[in-house]
Amino acid sequence: MSDIASREKVRALDADLRRRAAAVIPGGMFGHMNVNRLPDAYPQFYDRSEGTRVWDVDGNEYVDFMCSFGPMILGYRHPRVEAAAASQAAKGDTQPGPAPCMVELAELLVERVAHADWAIFAKNGSDATTISLMVARAETGRNKVLAATGAYHGAAPWATLRMDGVAPEERANLHYYTYNDAASVERVIDEAGAGNVAAIIASPFKHDAGFDQEAVDPAFARRLRELCDELGAALVHDEVRTGFRLNHGGSWEPLGVDPDLSAWSKAIANGYPLATVLGRGRYAEAATRIFVTGSFWCQAVPMAAAVATINALRDEDAVAVMEQVGTRLRAGLDQLAQEVGVPIRQTGPVQMPNLSFPADENYAKAAAFSATMLERGVIVHPRHNWFLSAAHDDGDVDRFLEAAQHGLEAVLGCD
Ligand SMILES: Cc1ncc(COP(=O)(O)O)c(C=O)c1O
Repeated sequence: MSDIASREKVRALDADLRRRAAAVIPGGMFGHMNVNRLPDAYPQFYDRSEGTRVWDVDGNEYVDFMCSFGPMILGYRHPRVEAAAASQAAKGDTQPGPAPCMVELAELLVERVAHADWAIFAKNGSDATTISLMVARAETGRNKVLAATGAYHGAAPWATLRMDGVAPEERANLHYYTYNDAASVERVIDEAGAGNVAAIIASPFKHDAGFDQEAVDPAFARRLRELCDELGAALVHDEVRTGFRLNHGGSWEPLGVDPDLSAWSKAIANGYPLATVLGRGRYAEAATRIFVTGSFWCQAVPMAAAVATINALRDEDAVAVMEQVGTRLRAGLDQLAQEVGVPIRQTGPVQMPNLSFPADENYAKAAAFSATMLERGVIVHPRHNWFLSAAHDDGDVDRFLEAAQHGLEAVLGCD
């Protein structure tokens, strides 16, 4: 039996790795779980993972409701994905050119995503958002890009939310509108000059870290489409975080609004490193003129994993499973909060839940909640949306709610 619910977690190996890392890696930390900005008890280093469980280097077991910040969507080490990856790995991975599975994957994406007439591949979400804008610029011959204030589209200089190490000129062609506010988009078009706009980039819903999430207003989505059509500019979707979690296809397909270009990564290969840009036929020629490449962009194993992932997502009816589990989690958390007497706000789609506490100065309540969850063997994040996968089940939700009872009691102690 694991020590998943025990409160005293020893993290000696993690502490030692942090100490060694501090000497040879600037800041000592790397990646999304950057513990410098998380409650003290978060482990930085992980040893293994299986299903919905992860084990830190000290052997502590957790149910992971962050899914590695999105890439895990079917469960860690999903048998069908691992079999496809292993079978490709036995033949080759990085080779002088791509393996046949690249074409199979492009065909599959074109079949499953309504607006996609073609696909090109890269590694990270930042590659995909950057390439999307390059294609839009190459097609339109224009430079200006409209993005929502506060939205995260990656770690490239044009997109980063921090300015250290970035020349202001790299951001000079970006103009900011307010998500869900069509009038603000129109104002920004005037500011940029209608004839200069290459693209409007938007995430399928507003999911800025540290804030309550906001569903897209369908009228806003339709207006973005109209404006892009009037301007002759590209509507670009950043599906990096949302892709295949909200819909088995593009996230706005149920609204009847299709983008021209879309950027995907995270979940498309259930944890294997891969990104893709999907686009409409009109943009295919421009996509041949931009120069983008990478030494590892032809890697075959992630592409074989992606084919298996996308097929398994459909066969397991993954979106419906995540919605079902997420609905139970949200309802259970609401009920607990009422019982314990802690006001909470839950926002966003149930499969990408976001929890916040009213009047939470410096996120102290969120930190108390998530630190208590962690000590009880459940990984959530205090300021970022969580992620569900098709592997999370009722047992995981029970575990979550058991821990959440204590988490909410800890929040009571903050007042
Ligand atoms: C919406 C969105 N776009 C782009 C990115 C960048 O992706 P990556 O970190 O893979 O470069 C992220 C990453 O979290 C994201 O959430």
